[in-house]
Amino acid sequence: MYSPEECAKRLGKLSPAYEAKAREDFIPIIRPESLKLLLSAAKKTGCRRFLEIGTAIGFSTAWLAVETGAHVDTVEKDAERLAKARAFWKEIGIEDRITSRLGDADELVPELARDNKYDFVFIDAAKSRYSDYLDAVYPSLEKGGIVFADNVYYLGLVKGDAYPPHKHRTIVNNMRAFLKKINDKEKFDTTVYDTEDGTAVCVKL
Ligand SMILES: C[S@@+](CC[C@H](N)C(=O)[O-])C[C@H]1O[C@@H](n2cnc3c(N)ncnc32)[C@H](O)[C@@H]1O
Repeated sequence: MYSPEECAKRLGKLSPAYEAKAREDFIPIIRPESLKLLLSAAKKTGCRRFLEIGTAIGFSTAWLAVETGAHVDTVEKDAERLAKARAFWKEIGIEDRITSRLGDADELVPELARDNKYDFVFIDAAKSRYSDYLDAVYPSLEKGGIVFADNVYYLGLVKGDAYPPHKHRTIVNNMRAFLKKINDKEKFDTTVYDTEDGTAVCVKL
């Protein structure tokens, strides 16, 4: 068991090579500007339990756990990626503060949301399912709780109302439906940042 300072030191040391290797292997992980926004929003809430939907190799999970000292529940459907993530967390010394579940978020998120209260949910898995994830977590989210969603402009195709190319149609239409929901002023105070691929920070009212 390492001290929080030692964990932060280890993450700082391992992170650049881990991030570079992920990009080299085309594993999608959060980009630098969005990571800054994520950590800033996460630290402001004083959140004690996060839900992350989409772990990949555990890069953003590690930063969330180290920077906030909180517990993170995270779900991933790719066993190989999750194995890498678990090894990475162990190397940093934070494995006790992360509960990871292997499986489909469509099944796991409703289950986790039923059994837990979250004050921060980071949506970063299947782009066509954001709206469903939101519906599933909404009841478990405290007032003042945050939904943080990455890639909401999805390759820039979601902005405006242009007809999307055939192969991206479902994702674009579903992401537009998600944006409509988070812009419901009765339910959320939402800001969408133009960084990289679009990042939404929504506070539940
Ligand atoms: C963008 S990556 C997550 C990156 C990670 N949050 C980070 O920034 O380090 C999205 C991940 O979601 C996973 N994913 C996609 N659809 C999923 C589903 N239905 N259930 C669980 N995981 C899913 C993918 O396998 C992928 O590893």
